[in-house]
Amino acid sequence: MHHITVFGATGRQGGSVISHLLKKGGFNIRAVSRDVSSEKAKRLAEKGVEVVRGDLLEPPETLVPLLKGTDAVFGVTDYWSLLDRPEGAEKAEVQCGKNLVDAIIEAGVPFPIFSGLPSTLKLTDNKVRTSHFESKATIEEYIREKGHPFIFVHPYAYFENIYYWLQPSSESSFEIVLPMGTCPMFLTCMQDFGGVIASILDSPQKYLGKTIDVVHEFIDCYKLAEIISEVLEKKVIYRPVSVDEYKRFPFPGAEDLADMFNAYQIMFDSNHIQNYDIASGRELYGQYHSLKSWTQEHKAELLKHQ
Ligand SMILES: NC(=O)c1ccc[n+]([C@@H]2O[C@H](COP(=O)([O-])OP(=O)(O)OC[C@H]3O[C@@H](n4cnc5c(N)ncnc54)[C@H](OP(=O)(O)O)[C@@H]3O)[C@@H](O)[C@H]2O)c1
Repeated sequence: MHHITVFGATGRQGGSVISHLLKKGGFNIRAVSRDVSSEKAKRLAEKGVEVVRGDLLEPPETLVPLLKGTDAVFGVTDYWSLLDRPEGAEKAEVQCGKNLVDAIIEAGVPFPIFSGLPSTLKLTDNKVRTSHFESKATIEEYIREKGHPFIFVHPYAYFENIYYWLQPSSESSFEIVLPMGTCPMFLTCMQDFGGVIASILDSPQKYLGKTIDVVHEFIDCYKLAEIISEVLEKKVIYRPVSVDEYKRFPFPGAEDLADMFNAYQIMFDSNHIQNYDIASGRELYGQYHSLKSWTQEHKAELLKHQ
C-alpha cells in the first residue's frame, strides 16, 4: 500500500488526483484541508480518505507531522485565494510553496510531486511577466536549490474554465471573450489530470527531476468555439479582445490573466513551441478526453449557463 498525502484535496487538481487514486486502488490517501468540517472535506472522508487539517500559510513545522510516513506528496499552491493578502498573492504563494517544500524535506518524503508552472518571463524572452506563473516558477527554483528530488507537473488552462468562459450573449447563444487573437493555446482536462499523477506513482523513481507538461488540446479560440457550438447545438462565437481591454474587465485577477494570455501568444508560437514535451503527459494517461468528448459529457451542465 502506497501512502500519499494530497494538498488542494478539496479543489480541482487535488480532487482529480484523489478520484483517480481511489479508482485505481491500493493507495492510503491523506487529504489536507484548512477546514476538515467543510462539505467537500466530509465527502472525501465518506470515501475512505483520511482528512487532516493543514494550512500552507502556517510554518512548515505544522505540516511535518502530516507528512511523516508518507511515500509521496501531491502539492499544489493556490494563487487565487491569496489575492487579498497584504504582501500580495505572488509573495504569499511563494511562501506557501516554501513552507510545503521545507516540510517535505524535513519529513524525508521520497517522491514529492509539485504542480507548478514555468516562468513566462523566461519563456517570452523577458517580454511578459505573469504573477501566478512567476510565483510557481520561483517555488520550483527553490526546490532545485534545495537539492531534494521532486517531480514537476505543469497543467495549463483547464477545460473546466469553459464554465466561466462561456457567457450568454444577445447576438448568439453564447460568446467566449478572450485576448488570444488567432493564437492556439494549451488546454488541460482537469478531470483526467489525476490519471497522469496516478500513473507517475506506478514508477515514481523514473520521473524524479523531470517536468511533465499535461496538455490535452492545443487549439485556437475560433476552433474552441466551433467544437463547443457543434456539441451544444447552439451558436457559440469567439470574440477576441485586446490584452489591455481584458485587463480592465471587472473581476479580481483580470490583469494577471490578461498578462498570461499575452504571454501564451509568444510561448506557443512557432519559435517557442519546442520548449514543451506534450507527448509524455498524454502517454502517461492515454484515456484522456478530447475537448469534444469532454463537452459531450458535460453538455447538460454547460447548457444550464444559458
Ligand atoms: N484554472 C486554471 O486553468 C489553472 C491552470 C494551471 C494552474 N492553475 C493553478 O492552480 C492553482 C489552484 O488549484 P485548483 O484549481 O485545484 O484550486 P481550487 O479548485 O480553486 O481549490 C483550491 C484548493 O487549494 C486549497 N488551499 C487554498 N489555500 C490553502 C492553504 N493556505 N493551505 C492549504 N490548502 C489551501 C483549498 O483547500 P481548502 O479550502 O480545503 O483548505 C482547495 O483544495 C492556482 O495556483 C492556479 O494558478 C490553474
